[in-house]
Amino acid sequence: MQVDLLAGTTHRPAVLARPVPTILVFDSGLGGLTVLARVTEACRGADIVYAADDAGFPYGRLEEGALVARVLAVMERLVARHRPDLVVIACNTASTLVLPALRARFAIPFVGTVPAIKPAAAATRSGLISVLATPGTVARDYTRGLVSTYAGGCDVTLVGATGLAALAEAALRGERVEDDAVAAEIAPCFVEREGRRTDVVTLSCTHYPLLLEPMRRVAPWPVEWLDPAPAIARRVLQLLGPEVAAERAGGHEAIAVFTAGVGITGPLRIALAGRGLAEVLIEPLPLVS
Ligand code: DGL
Repeated sequence: MQVDLLAGTTHRPAVLARPVPTILVFDSGLGGLTVLARVTEACRGADIVYAADDAGFPYGRLEEGALVARVLAVMERLVARHRPDLVVIACNTASTLVLPALRARFAIPFVGTVPAIKPAAAATRSGLISVLATPGTVARDYTRGLVSTYAGGCDVTLVGATGLAALAEAALRGERVEDDAVAAEIAPCFVEREGRRTDVVTLSCTHYPLLLEPMRRVAPWPVEWLDPAPAIARRVLQLLGPEVAAERAGGHEAIAVFTAGVGITGPLRIALAGRGLAEVLIEPLPLVS
């Protein structure tokens, strides 16, 4: 998807020709759409490939060695087919583990998504913060390292939600998600200790902002929900340069790629189109366990 910015003109001096960057936004499923929204807002001039490894979903249940192998295999093919200039790993479960292997394997910049523990420690007034993530992310050494480096003075509760990402997927596919199910998943985030209460919860799985409305509704008390997506978009823009912020005449290309594509319902197609992803490709890559 290398398109000339001056395409359409008859005279195209090579010196002015600037290639259009392609950004690949990658997740196990639909959660990365919450990051995609911010990235496309910030980088209106870039072409976009949104890739969901739905054949591997949910990553939160995969053992670490299997997850590294899976992400490398999927990325190998995505890079060969779509030739991205930059990749956003819009998945905490993968980023907290696989980034070093990806950076060693590919000569492309990778921007990861990791728990916003430093901003949470800066934002809390009660000193009680909760990290809401997948069981995989909360178990990582990387996540525990962030806690000890940046939140040593805080009381941090790590919450590994087993079903919340799947509930977010169901909601986007147009299925009914009961408030009680959401409430049960987020309940351990709300801690009261010696007259203090949790006041900051990090959304450390990219699926969770999709459920922000019901989470706010069922929360036992109001908290600040930290979504790192705006910071990720700023980092992408910084790496690609300010030219990528400007919209191009004729718009940009955007496609969605799925490795299974079994759950693509009508409401999901509408949701994807609403996010600029009208073109959907299935590039099958079964998970072999
Ligand atoms: N969206 C992914 C994340 O940010 C996780 C969902 C999954 O378990 O696959 O962690």
